[in-house]
Amino acid sequence: MKGIVKQFPGVLAVDHVDFELYPKEIHALLGENGAGKTTLMNVLYGVYRADEGQILINGKEVKIRNAVDAQSNGIGMVHQHFSLIPVFTVKENLSIGLRTGGFRLNLNQIKSKIEEAERNYGIEIDLDKKVQQLSVGEQQRVEILKLLFRGASTLILDEPTSSLTPQEVANLFKSLRALQSEGKTIIIITHKLYEVLDIADRVTVLRKGKVVFKSMKEGLTSQVLTEAMIGRGVELSNYNREKVSSGNSLVVEGLSVRGDRNDEVVTGASLEVRAGEILGIAGVSGNGQKELVESIFGLRKSKGGRIKINGHDITNLGVKGRIKVGLGYIPEERKTRGAAVSLPLTLNSVMHDHWGQPYLTRGAFNYKAIRKFAGEIISGFKVAAKDENVPARDLSGGNLQKFIVGREMIRNSSFLMSVNPTSGLDVGATEYVRNELVAYRNKGGGVLLVSEDLDELLALSDRIVVMYRGKTSKPVEQKDFDRLKIGAMMLGEGFSH
Ligand SMILES: Nc1ncnc2c1ncn2[C@@H]1O[C@H](COP(=O)(O)OP(=O)(O)OP(=O)(O)O)[C@@H](O)[C@H]1O
Ligand SMILES: [Mg+2]
Repeated sequence: MKGIVKQFPGVLAVDHVDFELYPKEIHALLGENGAGKTTLMNVLYGVYRADEGQILINGKEVKIRNAVDAQSNGIGMVHQHFSLIPVFTVKENLSIGLRTGGFRLNLNQIKSKIEEAERNYGIEIDLDKKVQQLSVGEQQRVEILKLLFRGASTLILDEPTSSLTPQEVANLFKSLRALQSEGKTIIIITHKLYEVLDIADRVTVLRKGKVVFKSMKEGLTSQVLTEAMIGRGVELSNYNREKVSSGNSLVVEGLSVRGDRNDEVVTGASLEVRAGEILGIAGVSGNGQKELVESIFGLRKSKGGRIKINGHDITNLGVKGRIKVGLGYIPEERKTRGAAVSLPLTLNSVMHDHWGQPYLTRGAFNYKAIRKFAGEIISGFKVAAKDENVPARDLSGGNLQKFIVGREMIRNSSFLMSVNPTSGLDVGATEYVRNELVAYRNKGGGVLLVSEDLDELLALSDRIVVMYRGKTSKPVEQKDFDRLKIGAMMLGEGFSH
């Protein structure tokens, strides 16, 4: 890519970028939230047309006007938000739009292609399962297979590991190496520096739309990469935690909750979040963490058990009632649950709880107050947005997350639940959010922190509870934290089967 420029109203997202990709390499594209990574790749995949610049393949200029053009040049992209159809099976998803010589592939052909993929790249998948029953890691495999079936030789993966478990990441990387040795070229966007140092051959770093650093992987350290991304070193804090306690708590007793398929996915879970502590929930994703939190917030009915805040039984309250008693929630699904993407940031800022004064006065929005609140979030949490009137969908993934975290934190809650709050955030923003969680705790708030990042839990939590197949373990005290021990519990050790 040569001299690529892409401007959005008020934002120069990509500013004269030269980007070279060599055959059979794994190339990491790095940069802070909003640096222009996704936009640059969307230009390569034909989602956006560049305002200026050229794309050359083997020295010859090609025009990529849409995804079909990209595909006919062997380029495929897996976006951060998948495009599979949840109610269709894997087989059906794979056969959509797949034709060879004008005919639809029949089932046997798909089967044999899948077996081939399994043999060559270690990509395993159950054809007859519905996509909605698959884990994120499995859905990602289907997306990659889709690209391979369409003959992609260059694969672009936008933050593919942000919601995978460590085991799934290891599997993905194994498959990527196998794809590479079969002659594929791969671009991977990620914020995790140790992943870059693990998988990439070469690195390009963007900052504010410009290329600021290019290098082979040899000799690179995460220090060097961080400085390239943000122009200075980051002080990694050790999260100073003060002792605070007020006797208040959020208590869950014997909670049972049904999942989307009506089976019991939380079975008799019990835990206590004390005011002034961060209680971490560790677990491989899909062990009931999500349903537990949704049920505590009132989004999901419980089948049995009790939930109490400071002795108040809130089990039968609706969401509004729970928010009034002092509960806050930073959900994981930022685009569907955390924000209404077509609405401006102003309305998104009051989406969760501002039903009363000063935001809503006699049934009408008070835009002045709302704009002020949205502005506070934007400046306080360093959200890169042109102004508070842009629709949420125009923000980069990381900036939208900062906005949602900011909104939930500025509110006056006494207990906050947060699910994977730093997934997709760059180093600087991750530090910022973690420090805010600790500050919230130090001010006497209680945090229920669900995270797939075990290092995050070990760094931030006062105590850790492990969830496995819907059950909760006894809390592990901070003095007993041990990566391997908690890792083993995540795989079921110590739980009755
Ligand atoms: N469709 C759009 N309309 C307007 N502005 C946009 C649009 N898409 C992206 N932008 C802006 O362009 C800039 C670059 O965004 P981009 O999504 O490419 O960043 P990114 O490097 O992928 O960040 P992240 O790591 O947070 O995903 C940001 O300022 C973003 O707000
Ligand atoms: Mg992005």
